[in-house]
Amino acid sequence: MKKKEQEKLQHHIEAHELKKKKIPKGKHLLEVKDLKMYFHTQDGIVKAVDGVSYTLDKDETLGVVGESGSGKSVTAMTIMGLIEMPPGQIEGGDVLYRGKSLLSMTEKEMQGIRGNNIAMIFQDPMTALNPVYTIGRQLGEGLRVHMGYSRKQALARAEELLGMVGIPNAEQRVKDYPHQFSGGMRQRAMIAMALACDPDILIADEPTTALDVTIQAQIIELMQEMQDKNHNAIIMITHDLGVVADIADKIMVMYAGRPVEFGTADEIFYNPIHPYTWGLMRSIPEQATEEKKPLTPISGNPPSLVNVPKGCSFSPRCPYATARCKEEEPPVYKTESGHYSRCFFSGDKAFVEKNSPRTTRDVATGTRKKERKPQAALDDTTARAVQALKESQAATEASNTKQTKRG
Ligand SMILES: Nc1ncnc2c1ncn2[C@@H]1O[C@H](COP(=O)(O)OP(=O)(O)OP(=O)(O)O)[C@@H](O)[C@H]1O
Ligand code: SF4
Ligand SMILES: [Mg+2]
Repeated sequence: MKKKEQEKLQHHIEAHELKKKKIPKGKHLLEVKDLKMYFHTQDGIVKAVDGVSYTLDKDETLGVVGESGSGKSVTAMTIMGLIEMPPGQIEGGDVLYRGKSLLSMTEKEMQGIRGNNIAMIFQDPMTALNPVYTIGRQLGEGLRVHMGYSRKQALARAEELLGMVGIPNAEQRVKDYPHQFSGGMRQRAMIAMALACDPDILIADEPTTALDVTIQAQIIELMQEMQDKNHNAIIMITHDLGVVADIADKIMVMYAGRPVEFGTADEIFYNPIHPYTWGLMRSIPEQATEEKKPLTPISGNPPSLVNVPKGCSFSPRCPYATARCKEEEPPVYKTESGHYSRCFFSGDKAFVEKNSPRTTRDVATGTRKKERKPQAALDDTTARAVQALKESQAATEASNTKQTKRG
């Protein structure tokens, strides 16, 4: 037991050290390389993530957009090492965090990374919160495990965090159980939990869908404040392009387990080149108003990922599909800037000009304020945490020696 504890502390210290380590030249904070995660089910192979690639650096926000079932959550859960295997299986690719492969880490090593280096706000807060523990205890758990906080320090910080995410009367509410919180409050508690250890990367999976518009804006502002202070990266998953319009630096549009278009937010909003992206844009109410056209949802439904259509997977729903689209898979069309798309016609300027919506980025509610402060806070917290964890490691070691002597 003691040995296990020692090992655990060591992994947590290593995770902190990795967080402080300089990113090797030519590497990124996060690099997802042709990642493939399939589920082997009785109905067949579900190709939930089928070749996802992107890079993400400090201070950047990536928006991941797509309809339900396009593989957004599975991509995130694969990065976090949270997919149960089997039925899941990595079929290819890699995920590099500060140049280190997350996919080759052991579960124990990943426990050091999760929550501390990479944290996730889950889509369904009820599955992520444990009903038998108070909110305060669950919020404090990460701080105790990753940062070496005492019970008292953790509870005080939990109160502070709850206050930060706009929960009134936080000193009382930390004693509540999850069922005593409303849906919106649980969502905010989840956000507080994810922010607790100042993660390098924050993955927010539809963090605002259950919330009303005012709270949505507050939550987004809170994540941005954290980013301005700690210079971390954010991955914002949503089915609504409008949500990421003014916070994302890069956008990946996913369809049937694959990125169909990827680019900077400006490229995606001012010069989208994939018909599916056009479809998503025409389903944003503000965009329809801009074009003075009725709101047009994309017709039909996304395909089953066990049976992805032949050729271009979007062809059954695409208004521009040709016979070739239904037979051949379109190659990746890439521009010099890195903007890419999987459509036969993405390089055809006349086609794009004629059919793409006249888009603007004024389709979201908030405005991005890019004000960066020097990164003092995070370095201090990390150094303090490593110190506390080392002290705790030394204490465990001392008690081990004592016991051995006695025995
Ligand atoms: N454990 C599993 N076993 C089999 N299939 C799975 C499993 N988990 C997810 N899938 C399938 O993987 C595909 C992608 O799911 P994912 O949850 O990533 O979609 P999503 O884009 O996050 O959708 P939503 O917007 O509804 O959250 C879906 O077809 C889903 O049914
Ligand atoms: S390849 Fe064909 S079906 Fe696919 S998006 Fe382009 S035009 Fe539509
Ligand atoms: Mg999801």
